Parts: sequence; C-alpha cells; structure tokens
Amino acid sequence: MNRNTDYIPFSKPCLGTDEEKAVCNVLKSGWLTTGKETIAFEKEFASFLDVPWAIALNSGTAGLHLSLEAVGVNSGSFVVTTPYTFTASAEIIRYLDADPLFVDIDEHTYNIDPDLIENVLKKRSKKISAILPVHIAGYPCEMDRIEELSKRYTVPVVEDAAHAFPVKCGTRYTGTIGTTGIFSFYANKTITTGEGGMVVTGNSDIADRIKIMRLHGMDREAWDRYICPETSWYYDVVEAGYKYNLTDLAASIGRVQLGKAVMFLEKRKKIAQRYNEEFMELDFLELPSYRTDHAWHLYLLKIVPEKLTITRDQFIIQMKEAGIGTSVHFIPLHLMSYYKKQYDFKDDDFPHALKNYLVSFSIPIYPDLSETQVERIINTIKEIGLKAYKTRQL
Ligand SMILES: Cc1ncc(COP(=O)(O)O)c(C=O)c1O
Repeated sequence: MNRNTDYIPFSKPCLGTDEEKAVCNVLKSGWLTTGKETIAFEKEFASFLDVPWAIALNSGTAGLHLSLEAVGVNSGSFVVTTPYTFTASAEIIRYLDADPLFVDIDEHTYNIDPDLIENVLKKRSKKISAILPVHIAGYPCEMDRIEELSKRYTVPVVEDAAHAFPVKCGTRYTGTIGTTGIFSFYANKTITTGEGGMVVTGNSDIADRIKIMRLHGMDREAWDRYICPETSWYYDVVEAGYKYNLTDLAASIGRVQLGKAVMFLEKRKKIAQRYNEEFMELDFLELPSYRTDHAWHLYLLKIVPEKLTITRDQFIIQMKEAGIGTSVHFIPLHLMSYYKKQYDFKDDDFPHALKNYLVSFSIPIYPDLSETQVERIINTIKEIGLKAYKTRQL
C-alpha cells in the first residue's frame, strides 16, 4: 500500500468551493465576529429543526455548559448521565461544581438505559438537577421514556445531540425534545464549522439566559452596539458570563453546510446500508443498532471475541497496516484517571459500558468516501476477520 495515495482516513470534513466563497465574502465584509451571518445561521438552523430558538456558540461543549447553567444545575446537585461518551458531556457538570451520576448503557444501542435513570430518580436520595442523555453515534436515545421521566420527576433534560444532526426520534428531531439540546460542529461532525456548536430550546427564558451568558454576561452584543440602526455604545454587565460566541467566519461555513445536511445524511445512510448488508452474514462481528432512524455520524462495529484469535486492538492494528484509519468510541469516563480518582470507580461499575468498550471500534463513514474506498474497507474487514477466525478444536 502506498500510504500517501491510498490511505483512507478515519474522518474527513466534506468542504467545497461554496464554503470557500462564503468565508471569502465574510473576510471582505469588514465584520468577522458574531454578526449577521451568525444571526442568519441561527434562524436557518431553528427553522430546519422547527424549534423557536437556536443560539450559536463556539463549541458544543459551550452549549452543554450554558444549558446546564440555564436549567439550574448548581453546586451539590447531580446530573444523571452516561459514562459511555466523550469527556465534554461530563466535564461541564464539574464546571458547575455539580457531580455526574453515571448510569450504565443498553449494550445494544450504546445509549443510556432509561430503566437505570428511573431507578436513581425513584430513590430520591440525591438532589438531581438534570438528565443528560447522549445520542451515541447519532442513534437516538429512548426519548419518549426519558421525556416521561423528566415530567414525572420534574427534572429538566439537556440532550447531547453532538452526534445526532439531523435525525428524528419519532416525529421530532433529536435535540428538540429536551428542555435544551446541543449540537456540535467540530471538524469531524455531520456538519462542521471547524469548531462550533448550537443550543436549541423552546423556552424563551432559557434562550435569553444563554444569549447573555455566551458573551460576558453583557446585555447587548457588539453587533447591536456598532452596526444596528439603533447604534449606541452603552451596555451593562448583568452577570459574570463567558466568551462562547460563534464568529461570522464560522457561521458562514455552517450556513452552507446546513444546506447540504440532508444530502450528506443520504450519503452516510447509503454507506451504512452497504456495511450492514455485507457484515450481516459475518458471525465474528456484531452490527450497530439501526431499528429506528440514525444520523450515522459513527459506524460502531463490535468484534465477537469468542470467534476470533485476535483482540479488538489487534484488529485495529491490522486495519491500519492495510491503510484504513479507525477509532474507538468511547473509552468510558469511569476508566479515566480523573473520574476514577474523584469518585473511586472500579472498572466493572458499569459492565455494559466496559464490555462494549473492549470489543468496539469505529470505521470510516463520511460523504466523501468513494464506492471503491467503501469496498476496500468491507473487504479488508472480511479478510482480517476470516484469517483470524477460530476453527473448532477437536
Ligand atoms: C458526545 C459529545 N458531546 C459533546 C462534544 C463536544 O463538542 P465540541 O467539540 O463541539 O465542544 C463531543 C465532541 O466530540 C461529543 O462527542
């Protein structure tokens, strides 16, 4: 394999001349930071999801932080969430001096198990200030159950939909079901602005709070002060806020990407379908759940260790040797030094999360993958698996 020409990266943003033009227009406009591009991006995003408010931020992490702050998560309270996620989903709980209350996942979907959420809510032994489900890989959590629990126990839900744009959960888009939902436009996400994020909500008080907190706690943004017809230099600081606003440069890319989101999804769906068809017959692999709609941000495969003479790690090494990038989503948070030390976790505290982690890996799935590349990925996985297939010992 010639690594320079044939290597298939694990992830690659899909950007073209439309994005280039949009950025150049902003560069020439004389206004680079949050302004009319960002306002237009927010409006278009809200309209796409059919939700009243969308607030653009410089990351999904910022969206999670400001959402938890706005719904009232505070020192001494707990947020019920999953250990099977990226660290952003839990670190923001610590920003507010609250604690994550991890519950295990459903081993088939990788998503938080609603029965276990109910168990901790039922106990009422801790002050639970929010539920934070994460739609892992773009596969929607059981939001009907989670919504019902949220109402019954009057606990707000902040949806981490960083992987889940766009996908419907029943008739509604993920991210629009909770009190707030957050999306990420990080470079490997289903649409990207390089770095960026969006919070959506149907609650006007929460939208107002997030708008103020995203820019230093000021009551007016720079765009209002310098450009709007009612121009005035005056502003007040009403809170000690943060610096989380999105630039117009990034928003201009986001607007173009948003226009392509459905086309991107169709392409990822087609690739997932090819993978599903080809891997279905291989008993050394377990496929991702796809009973309902899926955003297919990630394609998570599990090896069946009893059927193979190699481990997941060896599988990954052989994929790399064949020129194919892979990744692991996720190393559960209870295995990370910080959380271990802070909460004294043992590896098997969350058995499904641990089990899935040890056997899973993610393979490339993005709109720019060619059919030839998809075939090569399929054939390489088959070859590695069949070569390492355990034949029965007599
Ligand atoms: C599940 C999850 N939540 C939140 C985030 C944070 O998003 P961002 O990188 O935009 O801050 C990520 C980032 O990869 C993620 O995977």
